[in-house]
Amino acid sequence: MPQLIEIRRVGEFAGQEVTVQGWLYNLRESGKILFPLIRDGSGIIQGVVAKGAVAPDVFERARELTQESSLRATGKVRADKRAPGGHELDITSLEVLHRVPSDAPYPITPKEHGVEFLADHRHLWLRSSRQRAILGVRHEIIKACRDFFDDRGFTLVDTPIFTPSACEGTTTLFEVNYFEEKAYLTQSGQLYNEAAAAAVGKTYCFGPTFRAEKSKTRRHLTEFWMIEPEVAFAHLDDVMVLAEELVSSVVARALERRKPELQLLERNLSKLEQTKPPFPRLTYDEAVKILQGKGSEIQWGGDFGATDETLLSEGYDKPVMVHRYPSQVKAFYMAPDAARPEVALCVDVLAPEGYGEIIGGGERLADYDLLVKRIEENKLPRQAFEWYLDLRRYGTFPHGGFGMGIERVVAWICGLEHVRETIPFPRMLYRLTP
Ligand code: 4AD
Ligand code: MG
Repeated sequence: MPQLIEIRRVGEFAGQEVTVQGWLYNLRESGKILFPLIRDGSGIIQGVVAKGAVAPDVFERARELTQESSLRATGKVRADKRAPGGHELDITSLEVLHRVPSDAPYPITPKEHGVEFLADHRHLWLRSSRQRAILGVRHEIIKACRDFFDDRGFTLVDTPIFTPSACEGTTTLFEVNYFEEKAYLTQSGQLYNEAAAAAVGKTYCFGPTFRAEKSKTRRHLTEFWMIEPEVAFAHLDDVMVLAEELVSSVVARALERRKPELQLLERNLSKLEQTKPPFPRLTYDEAVKILQGKGSEIQWGGDFGATDETLLSEGYDKPVMVHRYPSQVKAFYMAPDAARPEVALCVDVLAPEGYGEIIGGGERLADYDLLVKRIEENKLPRQAFEWYLDLRRYGTFPHGGFGMGIERVVAWICGLEHVRETIPFPRMLYRLTP
């Protein structure tokens, strides 16, 4: 019995007979030779079925293969520089596991399809080489984030998805029935991270977060994944250093291990290669001046829109960190700058090439009285925050952290037009299926 192998490993088996199993990606016919392109998720290989060289039934089965039919093929691996992947499989036997009927063919063909059509068929679209490449890069980015924190002594502490209160403003909450009560899907694990930081010093959480974003933009999902570190005794400057090191290390890992995928996506790698610390730092005040100089309508006190973020990042070939925004445009938990209480000790990291904000975070408000005041000013239900206030009642401490949205980072690193391709099954304002 020939050995059953994954296609990514064919190089180790040149000259040997092997079996592969997968799906038909494409079938080309040239004279009396068939060239079925077989993919198994690990890789892709071109098979060769020559009419005279195989039993007539094998040739016939190969000729009738339809796109995405599942199959098992056996043959000898032959090195061939011209072949996609560098090897071909001289097929001697072929078993069709499921032949997609010709009268109900696979809906996604090599021709161009509209975005909505592809999105409706997301469960199948994932099989395409582009989508598979994106899945691979996404996986690498997530692994790189975990390794980054694990190697630095952070403890992963999982935070809940059902929560009793808002973290990031009440306008984007998803409310759900929770028995006799109302609960909300979490917008961020941060508040729980702060509790965990007092237990383990350096913590991070990583999970899905939810925002009832009514905006239909290329950067917004209603369900997205966020990695959030929180560090006891960290100040704003420490948070900024951690952020630039994380981003640089993730980009370096993608370049090191996922070059083939990035090349398939036609990503300009030289742009990514610039991503090394230190990142330029701008105060909000400086950023507003730059924007006004470029013709933006922004006034001091306002938040930046997507266009402003793009304009700002234009001047740099690496991510830029904007710090000390006016407290009024930021969440209730932000620590004010002691020297200028109207601004918060916060930072946003803006990706280059118009990808916008990938990280938001900063130093937290550690003072009990001021935090109570902020909760009241923001009309948040005091009762739901009593546990959070306990963190200020029992050994309050300076601390800070941030959240990095995985999909925005994937979009930037892969060079994608829209976040909908960065997550296997996107959830957006007008999309809940498949
Ligand atoms: O700036 P945000 O709202 O910050 C927080 O949630 C903090 N509590 C995080 C923390 O300090 N622990 O969100 C953080 C990041 C953004 O920079 C962006 O990358 C991503 O989450 N993000 C979204 N990604 C996709 N779709 C959305 N609707 C997003 N909203 C935020
Ligand atoms: Mg933000």
